[in-house]
Amino acid sequence: MTVMTQMSTTINMPEMPGEEPLLIAQGLTRWYGRRIGCRNVSFDLYEGEVMAVVGESGSGKTTLLNLLSSQMEPSSGQVLYRMRDGVTRDLARMDEAERRLLARTDWGFVHQDPAMGLRMRISAGANVGERLMAIGWRHYGRIRDTGTNWLHQVEIDASRIDDIPMTYSGGMRQRLQIARNLVTQPRLILMDEPTGGLDVSVQARLLDLLRGLAADLALSVVVVTHDLAVARLLSHRIMVMKEGEVVETGLTDQVLDDPREPYTQLLVASILPP
Ligand SMILES: Nc1ncnc2c1ncn2[C@@H]1O[C@H](COP(=O)(O)OP(=O)(O)OP(=O)(O)O)[C@@H](O)[C@H]1O
Ligand SMILES: [Mg+2]
Repeated sequence: MTVMTQMSTTINMPEMPGEEPLLIAQGLTRWYGRRIGCRNVSFDLYEGEVMAVVGESGSGKTTLLNLLSSQMEPSSGQVLYRMRDGVTRDLARMDEAERRLLARTDWGFVHQDPAMGLRMRISAGANVGERLMAIGWRHYGRIRDTGTNWLHQVEIDASRIDDIPMTYSGGMRQRLQIARNLVTQPRLILMDEPTGGLDVSVQARLLDLLRGLAADLALSVVVVTHDLAVARLLSHRIMVMKEGEVVETGLTDQVLDDPREPYTQLLVASILPP
């Protein structure tokens, strides 16, 4: 934990001179019948920026991710996304085919449970290759080489490329899921507890890897985590949620070192070491 905390000082805020946000959430609200999922969530996310969403269980974090990725429709509010051509569009006004194309090309979604984000009965190489084929790659050799290269980047030995993820450990599955998501060079990655369920040493290596990739590829990331050390290590900005609402937001170090809201103070006091 201490090591992670110290390392966070090396994160630099990305430059964003006059640039439009990549993703804009405006008043996102989702009801499940009479129960609130999340209420009135708004933020801008810029290119190369990593935002952590933290909060206790049931605070609406997964709901928010599902709204951002269009896997769920908001009860009210909007998600705007700046396309590669520079035009910012309202996701709700796109047709299904356009949204699916975006999900295949521009976005990655890293599930807490890697089994949800992988095809467990096809080889690791095919898991990565499939995403490339979905965007029109046809040349087997090129697909294989790119797949091998990505396995290498996530520290999976090339000799395991033909094995199915069923035979992988939890940490390896999670790294494979990350490779599968990054191979198409997405611009936006949404991650739901990417290190949940992994033991501490595996977690630390995975976080290092994610940090490196996010910085090298200038990825924009929304990472949901209940672990403030993960938020501290990965994110530039943090958004604290409670009962579906945003209670505090700001630069990660500022919020964690000097939380303003009583709820955040409680969260920080109970989870972060002194
Ligand atoms: N499909 C659903 N149907 C009904 N209520 C739901 C559904 N999904 C979530 N909820 C409710 O919405 C609220 C927010 O849930 P959500 O899953 O977004 O929380 P979370 O912050 O991701 O929690 P966790 O940290 O446990 O994953 C909770 O009260 C939950 O019971
Ligand atoms: Mg959740």
